[in-house]
Amino acid sequence: MANARDLAGRTIVVTGASSGIGARFGEVLAARGARVALAARRLDRLEALTDTIKANGGEAMAVEMDVTDEASVIAAFDAVDEQFGRIDTVIANAGRDAKGSCLELTLEEFDSVMAVNLRGVFLTAREGARRMVTHLDPKARRGRIVLISSITSQMATPGLSAYSASKAAVNRMGKVMAKELARAGINLNMLLPGYIETDLTADSFQTESGKMFLASFPRRRLVEVEELDGLICYLCSDASSAVTGAEFTVDEGQSV
Ligand SMILES: NC(=O)c1ccc[n+]([C@@H]2O[C@H](COP(=O)([O-])OP(=O)(O)OC[C@H]3O[C@@H](n4cnc5c(N)ncnc54)[C@H](OP(=O)(O)O)[C@@H]3O)[C@@H](O)[C@H]2O)c1
Repeated sequence: MANARDLAGRTIVVTGASSGIGARFGEVLAARGARVALAARRLDRLEALTDTIKANGGEAMAVEMDVTDEASVIAAFDAVDEQFGRIDTVIANAGRDAKGSCLELTLEEFDSVMAVNLRGVFLTAREGARRMVTHLDPKARRGRIVLISSITSQMATPGLSAYSASKAAVNRMGKVMAKELARAGINLNMLLPGYIETDLTADSFQTESGKMFLASFPRRRLVEVEELDGLICYLCSDASSAVTGAEFTVDEGQSV
């Protein structure tokens, strides 16, 4: 029986690994035995995390990638291929937000959110899938892609029109991609975290309205980033061979 905690032999690309959720994924996946390629724009942060992972006995590499730029994505995957060999798993996690009512949201901000959260997820998932179809045995069902969405894809939270739309689009795009990739032995799933304290959200929960929002959650708390560990390992592991095209919410009931 496949073990959901054992990722030995896997080569995983994690985008947005220079902070927050992506950095945590890098650490936990490496601790479970995977070779992890940490991708983002801030190379200094990726290198620092790579050093930490190596000091703990894991295997990691840092690779610069702007997920909105096709050439940058391809070059980063080439670098991973060269250093680590063939990839079998991609976590498309890089993201950004834009806050403010639709009355104030600028077109530049709208486009930028879509470029990172939707175009970036498409480019990284597509690049990973293109490489997996060339070398993975479809019958083994070992390819894994996880798209990091958000509970805001299913809520109507004022101030998050562009962000929520980008995440809802990721959910739908992911379902279509999962179906297209099923026969190639690649499983693609969406992970929808609830609110977690990271650089993305830290300011929001310091404001009075943020504190009121938090108080409205069933458990009046944020999700801890470590609470995603079990699910991300499962979705990257051989144990999830029959799971594809699914959406998984981890949110302490925040969206209920
Ligand atoms: N925190 C939450 O409450 C929460 C809840 C649900 C979903 N999420 C999602 O989880 C993911 C990670 O968010 P987080 O909370 O960990 O935020 P974060 O700490 O701000 O991390 C965002 C990451 O995305 C990377 N990134 C942004 N633009 C990029 C680009 N053009 N190319 C490559 N990398 C880029 C950043 O790296 P560089 O700046 O170095 O490039 C950074 O590593 C996002 O998709 C977010 O929407 C977060």
